[in-house]
Amino acid sequence: MTSNQGFSGNFHFDGCDTVELAKKYKTPLYVVSETYIRERCREIRRDFLDQYPESRAAFASKAFLTLEMCRIIDNEGLDLDVVSGGELYTAIKAGFPMEKIIFHGNNKTLDEIRMAVDHKVGRIVVDNAFELEEINLYAKEKNCVISILFRVTPGVDSHTHKFISTGHLDSKFGIPLDERVRSGYIKRALGMPNVKFMGFHFHVGSQLLENASHLAAIDILTKLMKDVKDEFSLETKELNVGGGFGIRYTEEDDRKTLTYFTNAIMERIDEKCHEYKLLIPRVTIEPGRWIVGESGITLYTIGSIKEIPDVRIYVGIDGGMPDNPRPALYDAKYDAVIANKINLPKSEVVTIAGKCCESGDILIYDLSVPKPESGDILAVLSTGAYNYSMASNYNRIPRPAVVMVKEGIDRLIVRRETYDDLISREI
Ligand code: LLP
Repeated sequence: MTSNQGFSGNFHFDGCDTVELAKKYKTPLYVVSETYIRERCREIRRDFLDQYPESRAAFASKAFLTLEMCRIIDNEGLDLDVVSGGELYTAIKAGFPMEKIIFHGNNKTLDEIRMAVDHKVGRIVVDNAFELEEINLYAKEKNCVISILFRVTPGVDSHTHKFISTGHLDSKFGIPLDERVRSGYIKRALGMPNVKFMGFHFHVGSQLLENASHLAAIDILTKLMKDVKDEFSLETKELNVGGGFGIRYTEEDDRKTLTYFTNAIMERIDEKCHEYKLLIPRVTIEPGRWIVGESGITLYTIGSIKEIPDVRIYVGIDGGMPDNPRPALYDAKYDAVIANKINLPKSEVVTIAGKCCESGDILIYDLSVPKPESGDILAVLSTGAYNYSMASNYNRIPRPAVVMVKEGIDRLIVRRETYDDLISREI
């Protein structure tokens, strides 16, 4: 994928001049590189699926989901992780094969459970006793058997890279690993005619730049698999290790390769299964951000430029927290360039301010740029994950369009919201 300057001196992304894209589609604009997404999918195939033939990889669609994204993921031969009726509906409408769907969620509604069963999704990841009963009841009514995994909380807190011993007791996700609780679940599932227990799932966190949390969780999960074998004479067939592989947002992020995570995960599973004399389970990974994060940029037009002497220069853009809530929510850091001044020296340090009525709507503090002027195009980098999918209409700001680019060709995949869209559901 090319992400650099073209002959025009403007910032190019996957062969497209971003200043021309801004003119053609207006701003704010999400631009997503198909080349980059396909390269990541192929890296997963080459370095993980082909190396470990029993393994599977599902794209965590919460990171970025559109009909076209479903088609690309299907075309690249990956599975899809969905977490709501809306995500499942998108996959259905895109014609995504239902047997390749993994359905998650910590509080699936009855309607969602029924929708998943009606469409015979490949796996439902069971989070709690309520849904286990409902899945079995409804699958009985529909005369089918649904394959399930149990989501467990291994008690590994990865956001801070620290292990918190009470984590397993204090999480809204999954089944606590307390023996009194988890044995009851497994016993119950084994007695149910319309669910088939396949194994376990865990997800230790997101934007991880180290593999330690995954490995710690595997130690805990393989011990659980041994206990299950001892208690129920049952081999665990599948282990879904979630996603969380980190990407580069700024130069400070030490991005690791896929194999840094996956080889270490597979080696540890192999080692522990030998130690406990277990069959090696089928392993699934669920990367979201790692597939799409760096595939996306967001283009904005610079409007007001406000200098407060000896304090800072605020550079106002025509978007902000409605299209990218991550800085406000997680203090997330981004990098950006002025797309039409890619060759000029970075002579100023500025703060990029969104247009919402919120002082917290600041996308980037202390960004080095060439002298900015109203009308310049700002390209914020690595916005492919959890931007479009988390966008809102706060302040009644319509959501941007999404343009997919590939080797110099651009095509609209989601049209811009209009003001009429904003009131279209109102009575
Ligand atoms: N599998 C499960 C069960 C998950 O809960 C998640 C993310 C993933 C896979 C994919 O994680 P990834 O590979 O994308 O890190 N909104 C936050 C991220 C929340 C992630 C929640 N679960 C953000 O913008 O950073």
